[in-house]
Amino acid sequence: MPLVLRALLFGVVTLLVLLLILDDIAEVEKEAANIGHSKKMNSQLLIPKPHSQAAVHLDPTAATGRRKHVDPPPPPRPSCNGTKRSLDGWTFNKTLSDLIRKNILRFLDPERDISILKGTLKPGDIIHYVFDRHSTTNISENLYRLLPTASPMRRQHHRRCAIVGNSGVLLNSSCGPEIDSHDFVIRCNLAPVEEYSRDVGRRTDLVTMNPSVVQRAFQDLLTEEWRERFLQRLRDLRGGVLWVPAFMAKGGEERVEWALRLILLHAVDVRMAFPSLRLLHAVRGYWLTNNVHIKRPTTGLLMYTMATRFCEEIHLYGFWPFALDPRGRPVKYHYYDALKYEYTSSSSPHAMPLEFRTLSSLHRQGALRLHTGICHGERQN
Ligand SMILES: *[C@@H]1O[C@H](CO)[C@@H](O)[C@H](O)[C@H]1NC(C)=O
Ligand SMILES: *[C@@H]1O[C@H](CO)[C@@H](O)[C@H](O)[C@H]1NC(C)=O
Ligand SMILES: *[C@@H]1O[C@H](CO)[C@@H](O)[C@H](O)[C@H]1NC(C)=O
Ligand SMILES: *[C@@H]1O[C@H](CO)[C@@H](O)[C@H](O)[C@H]1NC(C)=O
Repeated sequence: MPLVLRALLFGVVTLLVLLLILDDIAEVEKEAANIGHSKKMNSQLLIPKPHSQAAVHLDPTAATGRRKHVDPPPPPRPSCNGTKRSLDGWTFNKTLSDLIRKNILRFLDPERDISILKGTLKPGDIIHYVFDRHSTTNISENLYRLLPTASPMRRQHHRRCAIVGNSGVLLNSSCGPEIDSHDFVIRCNLAPVEEYSRDVGRRTDLVTMNPSVVQRAFQDLLTEEWRERFLQRLRDLRGGVLWVPAFMAKGGEERVEWALRLILLHAVDVRMAFPSLRLLHAVRGYWLTNNVHIKRPTTGLLMYTMATRFCEEIHLYGFWPFALDPRGRPVKYHYYDALKYEYTSSSSPHAMPLEFRTLSSLHRQGALRLHTGICHGERQN
């Protein structure tokens, strides 16, 4: 009899818990639906204009078409008189920027999702890749040792941040000093800075590293020379954050492992971050809700989405996915290597021109600032 009673009690408790969980999910869904609805009303805020659809990389007219969207600054609005305005007429819209931060926070908390924490995993735990759900990897001892115990971005708030993309549009831009003047500088894929510092600056507070970079830019760390170069780049971070999306797609696990082994062996002063497994889907969800249909966001867009949490004003440099600049001159795909634009053609999961239109639209509204030209040493205290 007591056994039956116990079983009954257990059943009741389980049912209660289930009901609570279901209720919770319904809440989340309701909220998501609400966001979708409310965003639709001011969706012209974020939707790029339809006539900018023709985004042919190598079409020379693309550059002039593009020009409409980036180059001529919007006419100064009388309502923003008295607020700080840059030389080209761009003004920061804090209201809009705060609104975007709030909306993004409904989908992800960048402070948390920027990295898996030590407490949540142990060595040997099996992980399903985010994009290759049927493939798994496991948490190695080295990775576990390098997992942070608290978010590397905990309680960080910065007034002006720069996110530096890797487009060749930065070459001869003289933007280095301006980029370095920001309070927090984010870079992508461990791009080299020393040899290009006049145009790209040096300061790096956070840098991303896809596993493929170990192979492409550091020759799989096969020789002492490449290992030294890799270590030197990391030492230049001086305690900055190294953000490694290790669980996105299968194939890079041993490269990540080699890199981590070196970092441990040489006790390099970097703070590691490995994005949460939900980050990509959450970021995609946010943009989808705003009618930006991106299959797989680029690192640049990911960084912008996360930076809204930590930064007041966000400035983007080196974001330019087109083979010609606004004046019709050729632009290298990366400022530092010989990769070609075909790399991002239709076979690629990234939708760079779509992302760029989205960012341009946000630039015009004052939510962020895209810098695509040369820097004139404009004072920006
Ligand atoms: C805007 O400010 C400028 C100078 O800062 C002033 O000359 C102009 O009259 C102002 N316009 C309006 C509409 O207040
Ligand atoms: C800033 O953005 C908000 C929200 O989108 C908008 O209502 C407001 O008019 C904008 N302010 C300026 C000065 O453009
Ligand atoms: C972890 O991965 C390694 C190599 O892929 C494998 O040999 C090992 O058995 C795995 N460990 C667990 C607990 O799955
Ligand atoms: C940058 O400037 C140098 C010197 O003027 C020139 O040789 C080079 O072609 C320029 N590069 C680009 C990408 O404009």
